[in-house]
Amino acid sequence: MRLTNVAVAVGVGLVLSAGTLLGQEPDGKALYEANCAQCHGKDGVPPEVLASRIKALKPLNDPSIYQGVSEDSTVAVLENGIGIMQPFKGTLDHEQEVAIARYIRTLAKPDTAKAAIPEKRPTGR
Ligand code: HEC
Repeated sequence: MRLTNVAVAVGVGLVLSAGTLLGQEPDGKALYEANCAQCHGKDGVPPEVLASRIKALKPLNDPSIYQGVSEDSTVAVLENGIGIMQPFKGTLDHEQEVAIARYIRTLAKPDTAKAAIPEKRPTGR
């Protein structure tokens, strides 16, 4: 009996601490895949059918789109929307937007960006 109670108490404790951990840091990857990937692509490369029609839809795995852009301004883009992209205010909370803003930067690895973008887009330089 006593052992069972201890086991239950330990079990509950583990579940609670796992929940707390998840609560502290929302899963940016899962949130990205649920809210953004349909337009921006799972790996940050927009599906061809969208990319060919919406020129403003830049690949999020291109490191140059984060150059000089703070994490806060990415969060602001998510919060308020940009161009034809809808605002996520009301859909995502601030912590979730921060987690996503962090996650999309991890998509931008120089090698994958080069591999994924066949022709160099004009950078204005
Ligand atoms: C319905 C399609 C759609 C969805 C869903 C969407 N976006 Fe976008 N996003 C766009 C389009 C189109 C643009 C370009 C807007 C413009 O510049 O006119 C854009 C622009 C951006 C930019 C700015 C890129 C730059 O530097 O120009 C970021 C960052 C971004 N999106 C991230 C996200 C994230 C993160 C999510 C999910 C929370 C998301 N988007 C969801 C369509 C979408």
